[in-house]
Amino acid sequence: MGTSDRRAFLKSQAGAAIGMAAARILSAESGPAASRPLRMGVIGVGSRGTYLLRLLLEQGAEVLAICDIRPQRLDVARKLIAELRNGQQPATFGETPTDYRRMLQRDDLEAVLIATPMQWHARMAVDALRAGKHVLSEVAAAMSIQECWDLVNTVEETGKIYMLAENCCFWRHVLAIGQMIAAGLFGKLTFAECGYVHDCRAMAFEGDGTLTWRGEIKRDHRGNYYPTHSLGPVAKWLGINKGDRLMSLVAAETGRAAMRSYLEQRFPKDHPARQIEFRIADSTTVLIKTAKEVLIDLRYDVMSARPHPTTVYYTLQGTKAVYDSRIDSLWIEGRSKGTTWESAGPYLEEFDHPLWKEHSEIAQKTGHSGGDYFVIQQFTEAVRGGRPVPVDVYDSATWSAIIPLSEKSLMAGSQPMDIPDFTRGKWEQVAS
Ligand SMILES: NC(=O)c1ccc[n+]([C@@H]2O[C@H](COP(=O)([O-])OP(=O)(O)OC[C@H]3O[C@@H](n4cnc5c(N)ncnc54)[C@H](O)[C@@H]3O)[C@@H](O)[C@H]2O)c1
Repeated sequence: MGTSDRRAFLKSQAGAAIGMAAARILSAESGPAASRPLRMGVIGVGSRGTYLLRLLLEQGAEVLAICDIRPQRLDVARKLIAELRNGQQPATFGETPTDYRRMLQRDDLEAVLIATPMQWHARMAVDALRAGKHVLSEVAAAMSIQECWDLVNTVEETGKIYMLAENCCFWRHVLAIGQMIAAGLFGKLTFAECGYVHDCRAMAFEGDGTLTWRGEIKRDHRGNYYPTHSLGPVAKWLGINKGDRLMSLVAAETGRAAMRSYLEQRFPKDHPARQIEFRIADSTTVLIKTAKEVLIDLRYDVMSARPHPTTVYYTLQGTKAVYDSRIDSLWIEGRSKGTTWESAGPYLEEFDHPLWKEHSEIAQKTGHSGGDYFVIQQFTEAVRGGRPVPVDVYDSATWSAIIPLSEKSLMAGSQPMDIPDFTRGKWEQVAS
């Protein structure tokens, strides 16, 4: 996700929540974290890892060790730590792709942030949990169903904290809509539409035209390979894993014209990049059914030419109200006048989430419209206060399972696929 587009997007929205259960979780977690600094290591200090490293330091964590296989990235991160911590020097790792395991042996680290390419997240998280560290992992959590189960099983075995850094769940308008759901304004929820539509073609290539890790995913896979920014907030609104659950999905896709057109514009005829066949379609739609018969329409498009400030959108339909972030509007039966859309702004202000009321001044100065601030703040409070995290391993596995299952559905000619219940029945024990 870009930062400026998110800022522009959110400027037009005013207020704040998550589904009923999630709203309860978030308010329970608001409160001062214990003062002792969190002792952290960071694996992967590329663009995202370095940004989150800065936030960790700004929120009081001590970052004692960093790991990256690119020495120049280690240098940038090392300088940042020295600048913000009076010349302090972290231990550095990254001589080989598995050198992070040496870092995990250190006794002075309580927790690690994982911000490496997605292909590494699950195995690094499992290794870290087994080494006795709490984990904050970048999105997505995993890329296969086996990896999803490995995460769930390892968290249950070790009792360590695992949180997915899903920042969109903390956006002010997302949290405010959750408050409105909790207040009963939407009635019974019936349908949601969400999508990640962000022209990421340039990010598939290094400057010389070789593929980045993002490019490798696009070359090697079909399906929705970045589901959590779009599905996460909707799943929270619907109380997924806390009163409802994702049951099955079916995926459908377009053809592959957009990358071809990009390659022809960017690279000369004889450049090897022109020969690469990408398997990711221009646009992929996944329809997901929940146990309570809600339908979610989830779109993923990182290939089509489009302007930047519209990368994530959400709509929500209930028996009494409808919300559409794309037009920043909602309509509530019996409250809105006639059949005309209303600006969402006043409602989002009225239902502002307690987290935003408490932290808005500092949160809105941080990236992704404050989402990144709350990711770090909530993880820190969970570790310090021993409280549940707002995006736990069950959410992380459930949302990430869309990746392999959407691919499997496409490979089988758009056949329906069952979505595992990673909670093993616990979702039913929480009243929604
Ligand atoms: N939540 C968000 O809004 C958001 C935004 C951007 C990226 N992300 C996620 O953050 C992660 C990183 O993205 P990025 O844009 O920073 O990518 P990046 O390529 O800039 O950074 C990844 C870093 O990991 C390092 N790395 C690769 N393999 C490693 C290994 N085995 N051991 C140690 N280091 C290794 C690379 O050298 C690189 O510096 C991705 O998973 C991405 O999906 C999330």
